[in-house]
Amino acid sequence: MPLAALDLRHPQSMAYLLAGLLFVFALGGLASQESARRGNLYGVIGMALALIATLLDPSVGSFGVILGAVALGGVVGAVLAKRVEMTSMPELTAALHSFVGLAAVLVGLSSYLRPGKEMSHAEGIVHAIEITLDVAIGALTFTGSVIAWGKLQGRISGKALLLPGRHALNLGLLAVIIGGGAAVAMAGHGGAALGLSGFGWLLVIVGVASVLGVHLVMAIGGADMPVVVSLLNSYSGWTAAAAGFMLGNDLLIVTGALVGSSGAILSIIMCRAMNRSILNVVFGGFGATPAAAGTAEVLGTQTEIQVDELAEACAEAKEVIIVPGYGMAVAQAQRVVDDFARALQGRGARVRFAIHPVAGRLPGHMNVLLAEAGVPYDVVLEMDEINEDFPETDLVLVIGANDIVNPSAQTDPSSPIAGMPVLEAWKARMTVVLKRGKGAGYAGVENPLFFLDNTRMYYGDAKKSMERLVLTLKAAEAA
Ligand code: TAP
Repeated sequence: MPLAALDLRHPQSMAYLLAGLLFVFALGGLASQESARRGNLYGVIGMALALIATLLDPSVGSFGVILGAVALGGVVGAVLAKRVEMTSMPELTAALHSFVGLAAVLVGLSSYLRPGKEMSHAEGIVHAIEITLDVAIGALTFTGSVIAWGKLQGRISGKALLLPGRHALNLGLLAVIIGGGAAVAMAGHGGAALGLSGFGWLLVIVGVASVLGVHLVMAIGGADMPVVVSLLNSYSGWTAAAAGFMLGNDLLIVTGALVGSSGAILSIIMCRAMNRSILNVVFGGFGATPAAAGTAEVLGTQTEIQVDELAEACAEAKEVIIVPGYGMAVAQAQRVVDDFARALQGRGARVRFAIHPVAGRLPGHMNVLLAEAGVPYDVVLEMDEINEDFPETDLVLVIGANDIVNPSAQTDPSSPIAGMPVLEAWKARMTVVLKRGKGAGYAGVENPLFFLDNTRMYYGDAKKSMERLVLTLKAAEAA
């Protein structure tokens, strides 16, 4: 049964309007670190208001099932949120998007079977279009998110699957979905068209869109996965908006459009940061050529540095830049990194942090960790704000980062990260890299930075290495 349309004399409409505004404030708050907590709170209040207003709708008959589902979902969500490591957030996000997609498919199919009201011929056509959009985007989001989850978990190869004629295949699948939607409209409620019932055509659309979701995400290489996750976020928003039209629920339309458009904007920002074309990513590697990924051999040796020598270099440095990466998150080294920065600042050095837009495994990953450790925001700079300062820097400490400081992105066109802007750490007087061994970064390519004359490798787990360094610095100061 459709819920009430927006009518400001109606308390539910007022509650929906307020919830929609709170979601807008939430997005505004989440745009910067200082206001992110407030933004989150607005979102929670908005969602609570929306749930209560929906539950109080006269068309809602059985509270038992709904409250049971809310309790079950709430417990599963709370346990997952408590347990998940920050480094596994992209996988969790992909898994949650798959639920949104699956829910949209199920709601779409049930809305076809029980439309809830008599419809004129024209209304029936509009409803068929809404259901087609809802189940098609929902199925695509579901299977695409499952594949993204598998790739991020390492259960499916991160390499792009570039089938011959893949664009023709995508177009063919899209044509079947559009044709299927037309057949659903022709069949009307409970009827048949072209030898199949309307419901049968909907199942065909679900199947074909599911294959399209698998194919689109399989065609995307590991290095572009950050964009895929935000793109699937955007799709999950659009599918919710389509469900909103189908159910006549204004809040779902507004919320879905907010999620859809903010996910699309984030995808575009990330594509710019990685120098990728958004169309390439949307159409699953459109224009990509199967490159000999990361085959360039790096000649030379890596030179190790011991903690005493490094402590001396730190004590002398006046300009220091710290580049945190995924390894800092794995080691949970952020607090001791903050201690280190404060120790050097206490000696009169200028210490700043350089943040690459895709450092770590989720947008803003490093910012969240540094904020949690209490690093002041004004010394945390984005790549564009600091990249030109490396030549005037005495010491760069690369803490568990690899791809984001890989110069081959600028020099090796066959590399999977070719063209991605990187932090130019190699231009500093001395660069010290903290990592455990010879492990590659996310893109799986060798990093020539580690072999340069002015680079030193400080091996070990980042947290333990930093603790040793801070102790050595303090001991030297006390002596
Ligand atoms: P990576 O390229 O993944 O490199 C991380 C390095 O940290 C590894 O080489 C590893 O070397 C080292 N490491 C791991 N555990 C460590 C520990 N406990 N202590 C010290 N070092 C440790 O990370 P990055 O430079 O941050 O680049 C991010 C990559 O992830 C990019 O390719 C990006 O496209 C991709 N990605 C990003 C996102 C988002 S949205 N940020 C999402 C998905 C994928 P060892 O094994 O030798 O220690």
